Parts: sequence; structure tokens; C-alpha cells
Amino acid sequence: MTEQEGADWIPPGADISRPSAARIYDYLLGGAHNLAADRAVAQRLEAIQPQVATVARRNRAFLRRVVRFMVEQGVRQFLDLGSGIPTVGNVHEVAQAVDPAARVVYVDYEPVAVAHSLLLLKDNPNAEAIEADATNTEVVLKSEPVRRLIDLDEPVGLLAVTLGHYLPPEPAPRTVFAAYRDALASGSYFALTHLTNDFAVLRDPKIAETMRSTQDHIYPRTRDEVLALFEGFELVEPGLTTSANWRPDRLAAVVDPEEDGLYAGVGVKP
Ligand SMILES: C[S@@+](CC[C@H](N)C(=O)[O-])C[C@H]1O[C@@H](n2cnc3c(N)ncnc32)[C@H](O)[C@@H]1O
Repeated sequence: MTEQEGADWIPPGADISRPSAARIYDYLLGGAHNLAADRAVAQRLEAIQPQVATVARRNRAFLRRVVRFMVEQGVRQFLDLGSGIPTVGNVHEVAQAVDPAARVVYVDYEPVAVAHSLLLLKDNPNAEAIEADATNTEVVLKSEPVRRLIDLDEPVGLLAVTLGHYLPPEPAPRTVFAAYRDALASGSYFALTHLTNDFAVLRDPKIAETMRSTQDHIYPRTRDEVLALFEGFELVEPGLTTSANWRPDRLAAVVDPEEDGLYAGVGVKP
């Protein structure tokens, strides 16, 4: 029996012939929901840049801090685009630790990520996962789970944490995020992290080249291009920074952006 056939977390019909960002990221974070092909790509990335798992861990820590921040601002419902395979500190866990009534809809187009999310959430009436391409904004916003769990007249925490750089130039990511923004109430927050060539750590073109062997190609963007994704939102302090340096936990060391690698920011819809 192959590894694929033996794995009960792989939904029937899922195309696992090509490595995926969801499973590569899971491997980099020390998770168990990845296959030999994903691990091979992750190891190639680590050979190019040994810091790649550190960048992934810092990104995940940013997500946890951002959700806590949004909960502190009164947000009780979250739309998590490109949510990935559940791992430590999922959005619903962080939010529902403060308020068990907080509601979350996870969106990913990777079937393993969605199947595993659904399994984890089966006894959680306030969190759901849907399999959808986040660029199909109508499909996502009109989906049954979004209509049931997200009140678009109230502030929402919109999360696109390491999603934007998987979105190709067409449809323009700024129009994709603008469609979500337009659907959200004022007082909603938008958080993202985004890969860039502006900093040294992920600049090697071999990284993007390696990801071309997977389902998820990457499109690094410049500071101005990432700032444009916040159109219609006002960035909260400290503005656009890098993942470890966005409101770090007390006593956390400042990380040189050249090593941190991912742009990170949070905006609020006025
Ligand atoms: C690196 S993971 C990030 C997981 C989580 N957001 C985090 O930062 O911890 C990126 C996820 O984005 C998903 N993804 C990429 N493009 C997508 C798209 N167009 N629609 C939905 N999901 C997408 C991938 O399948 C993957 O699970």
C-alpha cells in the first residue's frame, strides 16, 4: 500500500499527485499532514534557504497575534482565506478561547486542508470550512457557511495570511480583496502577510522556481504592490512591517526585516 492509499486524512478524489503549499507549510511547521512529494519540495526550499521554516513559524505567530488583536477590538467573526491545514493556534481556537461564541469560516482550495478542517470542526457549531478558490469572491460570500455564520452588517476579521503571493496577476489581487472589502461593514479588519523580493531571506529566484513544481506558484510583490492591497483600509500601527515585527509579544526581539522576509500589516475599514 502506498503512503497515499494508507492515509485516512486524504479525501477521496483529491489530486495529490503534485505537492501543495498547504502540505509544504504543514511540514515546515512540524505537522503530520504531508506526503513524500511535499517533504521533498520543503527540503529543497530549506537547502536554498535554511531559514524558511523559521519564516513559516513567525508567520503563524503573526496570525495568532492578529486574531487576538482583532478580538480585543471587538471582532467576533472571522473569514480566513487560504486557511491551510489546521495546526497549532487555529483562528477559531484563539478567538473562541476569549469568546466561545466567536464565529469562523475557513476557506481553502486544497482538499486535504478542507477535509482536515471539517474533521476538526465537526463538533464546533461556530466554525466551518469551505473548499473554494478565494478569488471567487461571490462563491465565498454567498456560500451557506458564510451566510449562516457571518453577519456582514457587523465587523469581520478578514484574514489573508500568506495568501496574496499565491494569487496570479489576473484577476488582480487588489480587485479580489476590494470585492471582500466592499462586502464588509465599517469597523472590519483586514490582515495579510505577503512574500516579497524586497528582503534578502526569500529573494533567491530558486525559491519561486522550486514552487513552480507544485500546485501553488508564487508571485512576490514589492512594498507598493502590497500596500495597494490595503486600498480602502487604514493601516493600524505600526503600518506595513514584517511578520515578526507587527506588534510583537512583550520581550520578543526585533527581527531584521532582511531575515523576516514577509510583509505584514493590518488595516481597518473606516
Ligand atoms: C502557506 S498556507 C497558509 C495557511 C495560513 N493562512 C497561515 O498563514 O498560517 C497558504 C494556503 O493558501 C491556500 N491557497 C492558495 N491560493 C488559494 C486560493 N486562490 N484560494 C484558496 N486558497 C488558496 C493554499 O492551499 C494554502 O493552504
